Amino acid sequence: MAILPIRTLPDPALRQKAKRVRNIDGSINRLIDDMIETMHAEPGRAGLAAPQVGVPLRVIVIDQPEAEDIVIINPKIVRRKGERILDEGCLSFPGYFGRVTRAEKITVKGRDRTWKEVRIRADGLLAQVLEHEIDHLNGTLYVDHLGSMDELRKIEPEEPQD
Ligand code: NI
Repeated sequence: MAILPIRTLPDPALRQKAKRVRNIDGSINRLIDDMIETMHAEPGRAGLAAPQVGVPLRVIVIDQPEAEDIVIINPKIVRRKGERILDEGCLSFPGYFGRVTRAEKITVKGRDRTWKEVRIRADGLLAQVLEHEIDHLNGTLYVDHLGSMDELRKIEPEEPQD
């Protein structure tokens, strides 16, 4: 396994539409392992999409502190319900956050790393992270959902604790 460098804006890798994965092979397994290790190495990690490590394939991983990390290949949102406004940031645009509109509940279909079909119904943080990571597969970042870049806010460095 390896920690991969995370691409940041304006890297064009973040703006490509990622391609569907056709089957699981050694290189996909290695990619997934590396994405999980890379995600765990980042503070404020919530999830990671393959384009963020420069690989234009439809693979996302999501950190689950209390359970096994979620891996979804070729994820697709099949249902969206409700709306809510949330603060959001991104490893590919570090140092800022913004307020975006996301669904209250979503259902995502895709495959796990054993190529089994999975269907995930999510609300709360998981629904937000799923929408955010699936956006990455389409070359979309949360900043694209803002009315203007003036709506971005800078993350203040944490005060030293004593
Ligand atoms: Ni992101």
